[in-house]
Amino acid sequence: MNLRIPGPTPCPPQVLEAMARQMVNHRGPEFKALLKDLLARLKAIAQTEGDILIFTCSGTGGMEAALVNTLSPGDRVLSVTNGSFGDRFARIAEAFGGQVQKLSFEWGNPVDPKAVKKALEDDPSIKLVLVTHNETSTAVTNDLEAIGAVVREHEKLLLVDAISSMGAIDLPMDKWFCDVVVTGSQKSWMVPPGLAMVAVGPRGWKAVQEARSARFYWDFQAMKRFQENGETPFTPAISIYFALAVALDAIEKEGLPNVIARHARMGAYTRKAVKDLGLTLFPKESCASNTVTAVNAPDGLEVKPFLRTLRDQHGVVLAGGQGKLDGSIFRIGHLGFVNEADIDGVAKALRAVLGRS
Ligand SMILES: Cc1ncc(COP(=O)(O)O)c(C=O)c1O
Repeated sequence: MNLRIPGPTPCPPQVLEAMARQMVNHRGPEFKALLKDLLARLKAIAQTEGDILIFTCSGTGGMEAALVNTLSPGDRVLSVTNGSFGDRFARIAEAFGGQVQKLSFEWGNPVDPKAVKKALEDDPSIKLVLVTHNETSTAVTNDLEAIGAVVREHEKLLLVDAISSMGAIDLPMDKWFCDVVVTGSQKSWMVPPGLAMVAVGPRGWKAVQEARSARFYWDFQAMKRFQENGETPFTPAISIYFALAVALDAIEKEGLPNVIARHARMGAYTRKAVKDLGLTLFPKESCASNTVTAVNAPDGLEVKPFLRTLRDQHGVVLAGGQGKLDGSIFRIGHLGFVNEADIDGVAKALRAVLGRS
């Protein structure tokens, strides 16, 4: 199968082999060495002097962890959103008692940093700002550098969902003034679902000390304390840690700048392939993502049967639209273990099913 959804992504063979390794004691020397090694390597990719915390959970767990460690009930939160994952971040903040003001942008458009600036000027009581770096539901990458500069200028705390960007799209966390950044193993990292990696900078840690939300499994301070001792508070998904070490070998061998350049190439290649078929992109092309492409379903096309035919007859697995985009777009994932030949396979199948010449 040519699995081209925006996560889980295919894993290289050596990563799958690592998943088959026998278990080790998660409180023993092998795990200690593995964890120490992973944390140093992830820090380099996050480009941070802060700390990396690895939780056994999906990406959403990492988003909840970021919030419960930095938010106190009643805090004013500015939730900047241009898609369903941005909306999810807002919902989590609300669930934990945040007083959430949503700053929403039309789906397919990017976040406007000037509007973020205005919202912060209009309400100085805002404490936290939530933003999605790469909005997977609409295939839009937001200008995190500009948003980070605005948020820091106003001295607010910036929490970033980088679940479908980090490791594929450049995100120098410290340079861009991001305080807490979340990513998920099943995306650019080329390993199975099950780990959320959370990067926490110094301002993030200060907020952790002050915040009063209840937390137990997600406690950043407990995780840091345990990790410093080469352990995690609770039993980790050891196999995925093994896999991540092997995937990082591949990322480091290619070199992060080359990995980022390959994703930029894949994004452009996919968009061109789609347009060459006479199809149109859902988002504005100026903000189109390099990890996922959203395509408008041509008039009269029923997306669900179309995706079924692609899968059953051509072995190509694409994703549909989420929320209000269900039935009107389909999405092609091109992150992680991907090259031009994979996209050629997608284009060939699309051509056959859509009857394009
Ligand atoms: C931008 C973004 N945020 C959050 C999530 C949720 O991650 P998970 O499904 O691992 O909880 C995803 C997953 O698709 C995502 O792409």
